[in-house]
Amino acid sequence: MINKVIVTSGPTREWIDPVRYISNASSGKMGFHLANSAKIITPNIVYIAGGVENAYSKVQDAKCVSVETTEDLLQAVLAELEDNTLLIMAAAPADYKPLHPKDQKMKKQIGEQGLILEFTENPDILKNVSLMKTKLGFGNFWTLGFSAETESLERNAKIKLESKGLDWIAGNRVGKDLGFGEVRSEISLFYKTGESKQIGPGTKEFLADTLVSIIQKDLSSL
Ligand code: CTP
Repeated sequence: MINKVIVTSGPTREWIDPVRYISNASSGKMGFHLANSAKIITPNIVYIAGGVENAYSKVQDAKCVSVETTEDLLQAVLAELEDNTLLIMAAAPADYKPLHPKDQKMKKQIGEQGLILEFTENPDILKNVSLMKTKLGFGNFWTLGFSAETESLERNAKIKLESKGLDWIAGNRVGKDLGFGEVRSEISLFYKTGESKQIGPGTKEFLADTLVSIIQKDLSSL
């Protein structure tokens, strides 16, 4: 029995100075639809969103939490961890943050050749969750991860499934005009057994509904 579904959504932001940040092209649309679809599993939905487009910032009847950085997202996810939970990690957290963020707006240097910024690694949320669920002895905690790839989708998704201790991973192709925000897409769902299922092509609403129905069936057959 699953009593809670946590859905993370959208990009995180890492500040360079008070007016500039680095982020990525995730819109939050998939996470938003997944959080709505997940209501067939439980009414207890926690929606944790990064810098998503306005239309995807709140999910009706869900507990909605807004975060900015990857560290904020990690803390928000850890605060919600309990047994009998499904975690859907649809967010696209920034993997790196500026090593020395500035307190004041950086000034353009006249005659400067270019700008070199140094970055340091952010925590991997799924790896942290995997460690915590073992430490806390959860027996009924399930994790669906995502793998947005521009190449070698199956290979990269399977590596992430294993290395992040996931139960399923949903892989999709992304690129400049593909996968982010746009209306139709497709997903390959990979299992720890090596099995896989194709979903779509279809709208993100359709993909989210189908994915959640498959996961619900998988959970009920355990
Ligand atoms: N993820 C995470 N913590 C991070 C980065 C990613 O938990 N710091 C999660 C994402 O939410 C997603 C999965 O890991 O469910 C795969 O994310 P992706 O960005 O595809 O993979 P990365 O681990 O960042 O690897 P790479 O950027 O090398 O593809």
